[in-house]
Amino acid sequence: MPSSSPAHHDLPTIAGIAAALGPAAARFDVDVLPECDSTNALLLARGEAGAPGGTTVVAHRQTAGRGRRGRQWHSAPGDGLTFSLLWRFPPACAMEGLSLAVGVAVAEALEDAGIGGLALKWPNDLLKDGGKLGGILVELVPNVRWATVIGIGLNRRLPDDMPDDVREQAAAMGPDPSADRLLGLALGRLLHAMERFARSGFPAFREEWLRRNAHAGAAVRVLSDFEPPLEGRFAGVDAGGALLLDCADGPRRVISGEVSLRTAGSGA
Ligand code: BTN
Repeated sequence: MPSSSPAHHDLPTIAGIAAALGPAAARFDVDVLPECDSTNALLLARGEAGAPGGTTVVAHRQTAGRGRRGRQWHSAPGDGLTFSLLWRFPPACAMEGLSLAVGVAVAEALEDAGIGGLALKWPNDLLKDGGKLGGILVELVPNVRWATVIGIGLNRRLPDDMPDDVREQAAAMGPDPSADRLLGLALGRLLHAMERFARSGFPAFREEWLRRNAHAGAAVRVLSDFEPPLEGRFAGVDAGGALLLDCADGPRRVISGEVSLRTAGSGA
């Protein structure tokens, strides 16, 4: 969508989201704020103070939106959707791969909305036609076991103040469907996905994740959080959501990091 056509009129509302959710609205306690620092930060605090699972915060504007690996998440009112969901899993639930399962649920919601060209980039970026359409940041509530905050940012239009290096890699979905409908679809899919995850864990989502894998079989470089960069062929993900990489010196399993395509001239 051209950056000259702002979508500022389409801001989500509590009533609109409830209408889009239908009966499932009873499972959520949704708050829509004109502004906050970060919906994740806010819900982590509310979660620690005892807020129930299903508590959701949607912000028209975040002043300190958080991305993965200490990065910032850029969005402006009406340009994107920024929201977080507090979810409490049953004790002893295996949490590995949760953020990948969330990626599957959000991709399904966008597909329900008729958005095409979607893929998932490990661990949980949402791509549209190769550009980053959305990001997911799953954080554990401090001092409370099995309580998580699932934060999601989606671009509807790229904000004017988005730095060029971020813009070059970004994608936007445009003004349709409405913010309320998108949130209704996303929360509805997340509700079912989190219930399924609590019962069966990531293995129940693995095939759906692999079907959308943007880098299946590709030569990639992985900037790992814990090891020197790795290069190899993307061989899939395991039952815990770890990336399986076929490297020259044998198979490797990576639990956290950043994937990029190895292109000619990058030492491949
Ligand atoms: C990423 O780096 O790709 C993850 C971005 C996650 C951004 C969302 S926006 C709503 C929620 N609140 C935050 O501060 N971050 C997440």
